[in-house]
Amino acid sequence: MKYPANVKIVEVGARDGLQNEKQPISVATKIELIHKLVDAGIVHVEAGSFVNPKWVPQMAGSAEVFQGLVRKSNVTYAALTPNMQGFEDALQAGASEVAIFGAASESFSQKNINCSIAESIQRFEPIMLAAKSANIKVRGYVSCVAGCPYEGDISVEKVAEVSRILFEMGCHEISLGDTIGVGTPAAVNRILEATAKQVPLENLAVHFHDTYGQALANIYAALEMGVSIVDSSIAGLGGCPYAKGASGNVATEDVVYMLNGLGVKHGVDLCKLIAAGNYISHELGRVNGSKVAIAASS
Ligand code: HMG
Ligand code: MG
Repeated sequence: MKYPANVKIVEVGARDGLQNEKQPISVATKIELIHKLVDAGIVHVEAGSFVNPKWVPQMAGSAEVFQGLVRKSNVTYAALTPNMQGFEDALQAGASEVAIFGAASESFSQKNINCSIAESIQRFEPIMLAAKSANIKVRGYVSCVAGCPYEGDISVEKVAEVSRILFEMGCHEISLGDTIGVGTPAAVNRILEATAKQVPLENLAVHFHDTYGQALANIYAALEMGVSIVDSSIAGLGGCPYAKGASGNVATEDVVYMLNGLGVKHGVDLCKLIAAGNYISHELGRVNGSKVAIAASS
């Protein structure tokens, strides 16, 4: 079997994970979590998002989070930005990379960002221009690649098309989101086969939620196809407020354990990572969502 020699882990727990929490989480706790993740060797961390706080209240303190971080020069501290207002706020707060987020499903686009897919592309255009002149890289998300909570099946052609548009606009990386965690390895094969015809494989990331327990198997399938960027969430935190029932992303600890077993390099210290996951689980008052963390901590 061939796997990439190195995998870049994009840690989304402080954003995708915490955005879904109902209970208040202090800015200090978010900052502490990010510091622990970076100390464990994570070099790309999503630290927050600049969206309407009426829509996603938990991300309201993102500017304070960015401003309070003690940064390391080799680490990317990224933010989600749906429009120019979000981009300007992210820039002001000191985000070192931003992400625009579109979807392969019209209904999800409407529910999540209140516009059609075509309108979202128009909203993203000025962000791309402004990011270029500010020398900021932009990541592009495509949600609902394996299914939509409102529409059900989504065609791989649509996934590939939206991915191509975002890539041609200048996104350096396209993250394929199985937002509701319904995909299986066979679906991942089909999605990647279609999308890799439009976007080079080295620019594709996989972002799998674990609702149906398929995320690790799906990542394995993606690795076999040559994908080398994997999104994951510490302690398996998360979900999407506009995808009811969607559980967290695959746990970073579980991904790292699997990569260790496969002999794939990633630069993350599993013990420190588990400690970071136990920290946030304790703060949230819940059982750690990583099986590896539970096994290793018992
Ligand atoms: P809208 O209502 O269409 O925006 O929302 P608008 O331009 O018409 O403005 C209406 C109001 O929103 C105004 O305030 C604006 O100032 C405010 P008012 O005058 O009424 O007081 N507003 C903003 N406030 C703060 N920051 C902003 C901003 N923009 C407008 N950037 C909008 C459009 C996108 C803002 C809204 O729909 C929204 O905030 N949606 C939240 C989407 C979200 O965060 N979803 C979760 C993240 S995506 C995800 O989890 C999926 C992913 O993980 C991949 C996967 O799993 O598939 C990435
Ligand atoms: Mg997500």
